[in-house]
Amino acid sequence: MRMRLDKFISGQLPGMTRSRVRELLRSKRVTLDGVPATNGQLKIDPETAAVAVDGEPVPYRRFLYIVMNKPSGVVTAVRDSLSQTVMELLPEKLRRQGLFPAGRLDKDTEGLLLITDDGELCHRMLSPGAHVEKEYAVGLSKPLPKDAAGLFKSGIVLEDGTRCRPAELIPGGDPLSCRVLLTEGRYHQVKRMIAAAGSGVTSLKRVRIGGLLLPEGLPSGESIELEEAVAKALIFSKNRHIDGFPSI
Ligand code: URA
Repeated sequence: MRMRLDKFISGQLPGMTRSRVRELLRSKRVTLDGVPATNGQLKIDPETAAVAVDGEPVPYRRFLYIVMNKPSGVVTAVRDSLSQTVMELLPEKLRRQGLFPAGRLDKDTEGLLLITDDGELCHRMLSPGAHVEKEYAVGLSKPLPKDAAGLFKSGIVLEDGTRCRPAELIPGGDPLSCRVLLTEGRYHQVKRMIAAAGSGVTSLKRVRIGGLLLPEGLPSGESIELEEAVAKALIFSKNRHIDGFPSI
């Protein structure tokens, strides 16, 4: 799909306003296929055009796929009048118009969060029919009863009567930790499931979406970018333990 040269530059370079782009074009700092370009209305094929600003190539990324290690205390929202948002944690080079968090983690939940501007991928990833599994590491206020895993497997019923889809509960190394594996994303779901099983959540961290693991060594609050093909392959993989996660 062809697009205007000025729109291409403002969309691909962080912090670039349309007026700044006009200025760059006017002062002949933009080249298109090696030739100075001054007309921002020119239609280009973003997949093949070689655009550069001050000699620096402007790479084309149709969508961005950003993996964040969300810290506790930050809200999963594009903007919020009271609290810091996950978007405010993004480094300048990963900011651009149209990005949003794909799904929601509670303010006190940490771990793997995808931020993207690919609405279709987000919809696919969150639809219960797609069966994309999310894995949470859970800290418990007291040990769960022996039959808890069975309750989860048969579809635990929440306090308000909602029956959840079958989920997996894996005991942790000690009685006060476990893993919960879900394919749906109801409001406060893990906390409500754990409450229905007779315990409480003291800490919650998402560690996996599909085959996409929270990268080991990604510090809390930091983000990395994934290539489109890598993001899609990992998220929609049924394999829970992917080798070769892009190193950071
Ligand atoms: N379940 C919860 O209760 N909270 C989250 O943030 C995610 C899943």
